[in-house]
Amino acid sequence: DKTPPQLLIIFGASGDLTERKLIPALFSLYEEKYLPKNFAVLGISRSDSDDGSFRDQVVLQNKHIPETVKNHGLRKSFAEKVFYFDLGDSYDVDYSALNERIEALDKAQKTAGNYIFYLSTPPSLYEIIARNLNKAGLTSDNGGWTRLIVEKPFGYDLASAHELNDNLQKYFQESQIYRIDHYLGKETVQNLLVTRFANSIFEPLWNRNYIRHVEITNAESVGVGKRGGYYDKSGALRDMFQNHLLQIVSLVVMEPPIGSEPEEIRNEKVKALKSLRIMDDPETLHKNTIRGQYLAGESNGEPVIGYRQEEGVDPNSKTETYAALKFYVDNWRWAGVPFYVRTAKRMPTKVTEVVIHFKTPHHQIFRNSMVQNKDNKLIIRIQPNEGILVKFGVKVPGQGFEVERANLDFYYSELADQKIMEAYERLLLDAMQGDATLYARADEVEAAWEFVDPIVKFWQTDPNAVTFGYSAGMWGPKNADELIEGEYTWRNPGE
Ligand code: BG6
Repeated sequence: DKTPPQLLIIFGASGDLTERKLIPALFSLYEEKYLPKNFAVLGISRSDSDDGSFRDQVVLQNKHIPETVKNHGLRKSFAEKVFYFDLGDSYDVDYSALNERIEALDKAQKTAGNYIFYLSTPPSLYEIIARNLNKAGLTSDNGGWTRLIVEKPFGYDLASAHELNDNLQKYFQESQIYRIDHYLGKETVQNLLVTRFANSIFEPLWNRNYIRHVEITNAESVGVGKRGGYYDKSGALRDMFQNHLLQIVSLVVMEPPIGSEPEEIRNEKVKALKSLRIMDDPETLHKNTIRGQYLAGESNGEPVIGYRQEEGVDPNSKTETYAALKFYVDNWRWAGVPFYVRTAKRMPTKVTEVVIHFKTPHHQIFRNSMVQNKDNKLIIRIQPNEGILVKFGVKVPGQGFEVERANLDFYYSELADQKIMEAYERLLLDAMQGDATLYARADEVEAAWEFVDPIVKFWQTDPNAVTFGYSAGMWGPKNADELIEGEYTWRNPGE
């Protein structure tokens, strides 16, 4: 009963996030009995709809809610907790009618004046909505508490993120603002903290003395689909790297927090992000950053079109669907350890993983072995097949000292009795309980932009910044292979 009664108010409720992620997550929480008894959802948008048709669309007929025998009856009872309010033509209107609706619902559903406003609208509307909520008296104490959840993208660059933070903080306290990054809701992303700080076998090695380099891959097999219009103005660096990947980086890099309180963890993450060495000279940017764009090719055995042919994409677009970076972290722990991070669409498979490459043993004894166990690896698989894998050398049975690579692995699927919560379930539940650990703080978002800004600017303005082509279904442009020096290259899982 850690979750108090409350009303969740979703702005932009006719958008596909509500149907695809939010309602299915809430339904699953309901099914698993995590929702408080007194709970309701109010969807708001500019479509001419009503309670009945909204319930039908997002609950009763929603194909993103898996159909099981068990949940058939539950859908109906859950649907009765879902309501709709038509805001009219614009989000920039007087919210007093909305206020009345909210108060009436609050009374009828006994939600104790506790409100979460979830902004699932284009970011250009965040300030407008916050301002009008404030004007209507909805951001102040209504006998309960008020929270605001905002979706990404949070800003377009450092300046716009800063401005957005300023604007939201005019109407909400920082402690009321929850900036969502759904990667933080993924079980294995959180497990990075546990792996590092709840064991004594990894952390002593987690530094420049033992780690040669860190590699992070985030690959998707899908293309941009119907989101070409949005994506072409954004690109992989803004769409994935600034948020999801830098969140993962910060968890790999951060120092141990004093405790597990949200602010303790977030303070360390900000420090981690601030220690990334900013690359702002053309020479380094040229050497350490690679962007690519998918050309026509194959995906899962089917022919697919190239990025420039996608709907909503400029036929001369230089926007990257592939980004690979090499960078350093300037602090005591990581001095001199290169980080290689890549994210892309239209790769051969969908996979996200962190690979910690340990250094070669200082003195090689088994020199004649076919396999030099040069590289002990710790692989943290974020998705799919969530788990952890350690690769190390073992002796091949028989004469002499032949060394072979062996795996020690753990997969979450082996915990058969534990259902892994979907990212949105976990994050929504946390916000309902007032736990902001897995949400990005203002300074965190800005520190991430600070690192990303000069790269975006370089790619956009430098005449020598090339966008390399790669065939859909391949592991990105050839040039990216050379980013990792020495005898190493990217680990392409599944290859
Ligand atoms: C979103 C991006 O934030 O994350 C999408 O906007 C991307 O472009 C998606 O496809 C990937 O999320 P996941 O959870 O499928 O890895």
